[in-house]
Amino acid sequence: VKIDGLKVACIGAGYVGGPTMAVIAMKCPTVTVTVLDISEERIAAWNDEDLDNLPVYEPGLAAVVAETRGRNLFFSTDVEGAVAAADIVFVSVNTPTKLHGVGKGRAADVKNLEACARTIARVSSSNKIIVEKSTVPIKTAETIRRVLEANKRPGCEFSVLSNPEFLAEGTAVDDLFEPSRVLIGGEDKPAGRTAVAQLAAVYNNWVARERIITTNLWSSELSKLVANAFLAQRISSINSISALCERTGADVSEVARAVGSDHRIGPNFLKASLGFGGSCFQKDILNLVYLAERFGLPEVAAYWEQVIAMNEWQKRRFAEGMVSSMFNSVSGKRIALLGFAFKKDTADVRETAAAYVSKFLLEERAHLRVYDPKVRLPAMLSELDYTCGVTPENCPDLATRFVSCASALEACDGADALAVMTEWDEFASIDFEAAFAAMRKPAFVFDGRNVLDHAKLRAIGFQVYVIGKPTSPSATVM
Ligand code: UDX
Ligand code: UDX
Ligand code: ADP
Repeated sequence: VKIDGLKVACIGAGYVGGPTMAVIAMKCPTVTVTVLDISEERIAAWNDEDLDNLPVYEPGLAAVVAETRGRNLFFSTDVEGAVAAADIVFVSVNTPTKLHGVGKGRAADVKNLEACARTIARVSSSNKIIVEKSTVPIKTAETIRRVLEANKRPGCEFSVLSNPEFLAEGTAVDDLFEPSRVLIGGEDKPAGRTAVAQLAAVYNNWVARERIITTNLWSSELSKLVANAFLAQRISSINSISALCERTGADVSEVARAVGSDHRIGPNFLKASLGFGGSCFQKDILNLVYLAERFGLPEVAAYWEQVIAMNEWQKRRFAEGMVSSMFNSVSGKRIALLGFAFKKDTADVRETAAAYVSKFLLEERAHLRVYDPKVRLPAMLSELDYTCGVTPENCPDLATRFVSCASALEACDGADALAVMTEWDEFASIDFEAAFAAMRKPAFVFDGRNVLDHAKLRAIGFQVYVIGKPTSPSATVM
């Protein structure tokens, strides 16, 4: 199957669409890739001369964009024009959890996808392959197919494929360069098989054929939800054990190592933390729960719902432990939060546990001083509002009690405690002697990521509490 001269369009220039298309453009120089968005601002940022201003921060991404942009990678708001000209149209728009109506708070809202399908049908006068890239509820491909069929021009044929993206933020470029697998779902009909082969040929330019898995549409859609559910389940499982470790004197890192050495279990994704965040895990599990219920499987729904419940409990447990360790009151105390992103090497704050902890501590009347190497104050405040409902209206003195700082040391100045929210590498090299000197005593450290050198911190004089260790914040709650 030939790909030379192929024209690819992608609707949605976000965390998934942007990096994915940049890598396709880099790995397939004979393919023209146009990334589209309704947001003028976002497209302008992707086109910014200064690569530091790209809308998505990912290690290695600027170099890929520098190499390809203007050569065979383009960013544009001309959705209709680029879609009309394309052979393959990826749809990578956001599918947030519904905030209203049936399935509110759980089901994914596919209205953006439906809008894209209508646009594609309206402007197309040639056959196209439509690739569902966004994570979607199972059977969404059927929705797209029906909207296309009902609105297409005569003589125009569409094949709908599901091609979920498995990249993780912070490692997006590496994950795209060397995916553990590429998954393509298509209809088991001649046209469907041809479309699958065409898309597989694009990936095959840099991904070995045996890593390209082809399935039917529904298996592909479901696999994405299940992969995220399994990953999140591992974190909730180890986090549940972290609580038991704190009560018994076991050490969660030792347990994770011992358990993970069984090749049937594996060592990855067993890091206890103050709770998982990110735009995918919670949303996709809620979506899975909703699907299970809708298909009459309440036991399945209840099983997966526990993964979320455990995560909520872990976040609350951590925040409560901080307060109880600090003599049951943080009112008026300064607390330095180190990190706000939901994980390191990204500026993304969607569903970050740091926002939950902030809300809890703000309700306890603490003064928060936040330092994150990549996240700016407006993004923090917007997440506090969007996910946690904290606003200047309902949170007294928010502007003075939630302050963003330019460095970890600045955040620690005059603070009673510092708490690690995100596992940024640079936190290991903070001058903790200087931080200690600048803090009120007793000076507390709450390591929600288990990344600091605890023995060294204790030697300096800190009271140190770590998730999943006998000295965790919650060990004092008993
Ligand atoms: C288990 C652990 O594997 C072993 O490490 C521990 O020391 C003792 O308990 P065992 O019970 O002998 O070993 O067998 P195992 O292979 O783990 O199977 C347990 C059950 O799970 C069996 O009924 C098996 O059929 C079932 N199983 C296993 C599945 O249904 N699906 C699977 O994918 C694997
Ligand atoms: C996830 C999936 O990994 C990815 O395959 C999918 O395409 C999108 O969702 P992402 O949310 O970007 O990716 O990051 P991930 O590395 O999975 O981390 C999610 C959250 O889990 C973070 O808050 C992270 O800190 C937390 N985590 C991860 C842990 O607490 N412990 C771990 O061992 C691993
Ligand atoms: P993800 O993490 O899934 O990539 P993002 O929110 O980062 O999600 O990106 C999704 C992008 O899709 C946003 O930039 C949004 O403006 C864009 N988008 C949503 N609906 C449409 C649409 N109908 N047409 C074009 N772009 C859209």
